[in-house]
Amino acid sequence: MCHDCGSPSRRSFARFLAAGAGLTVLSACTPDAPVAVPSSSAALSPAAPSPAGGSALPGATPDAATVGQSPDVPSPAPPPSAALARQFSLSDPASQWVIVNKHRPLAPADYAPADLVRPAVAISASGEAALLNSTTAAAAESMFAAAARDGVAMVLGSGYRSYGTQVTTYNGYVAARGQADADTASARPGHSEHQTGWAFDIGDGGGACSFQPCFADQPAAVWAKANAYRFGFVVRYPWMLHPVTGYYYEPWHLRYVGVEAATDMTNRGIGTLEEYFGLEAAPAYL
Ligand code: DAL
Ligand code: ZN
Repeated sequence: MCHDCGSPSRRSFARFLAAGAGLTVLSACTPDAPVAVPSSSAALSPAAPSPAGGSALPGATPDAATVGQSPDVPSPAPPPSAALARQFSLSDPASQWVIVNKHRPLAPADYAPADLVRPAVAISASGEAALLNSTTAAAAESMFAAAARDGVAMVLGSGYRSYGTQVTTYNGYVAARGQADADTASARPGHSEHQTGWAFDIGDGGGACSFQPCFADQPAAVWAKANAYRFGFVVRYPWMLHPVTGYYYEPWHLRYVGVEAATDMTNRGIGTLEEYFGLEAAPAYL
């Protein structure tokens, strides 16, 4: 269970990081008890996550809030789609299918996209955080416009982060929360999707629950969870799948993989890129 998701100190820390450098901020709560490893179907359950049900550290047993999100009989993820497998590199940071996690650092560690651009969308970030690679930017423009047509306000809260910025970001988490907690919310330098330009964080423009678990219930997150795949995005760190991804639920963090793959994942109920591409779970650094 969460104890301080809405506390002034947590909110202040979130505002500090977001305002200071366009950075992702602490996303989830420290659990009382560990949770069981779920299948992807848990993340795709219609049951909305509760702000009080912040995900727990990998490898633990369930508490009252998280048990309700788990399937009675966990089922293995289906194998990767033969039709889609390996259309793009899983290792090249310039590939839309690059898999970056705690087992798969970026190579080179200081990679920087060659085609960073500022998308024509509402942006609350500044500097490099307002940038995305050109493919992701175009897809984001289409998605934000579609959300607006549906009456949903969506802003780009944090996009590209250089290796150097990730150093600052991660060190900020460690200083504030300690390394163990930092590692459940912020990637170590050279391990963040933000450095590829393929990922970004959304907000609703008003700051409601920004970078907090309760963002999952805000219209922008609800809309993105239901529609992002149509524009090639997946919610990269789904609810309860931290034993696979290594990170607490981040309803704001979207990752571009292309419409075909995102739609295939959605149709097949696969919640993580690790499962989709048949890669090992990456709950912790090696
Ligand atoms: N918050 C995500 C995991 C990142 O730091 O890239
Ligand atoms: Zn993010």
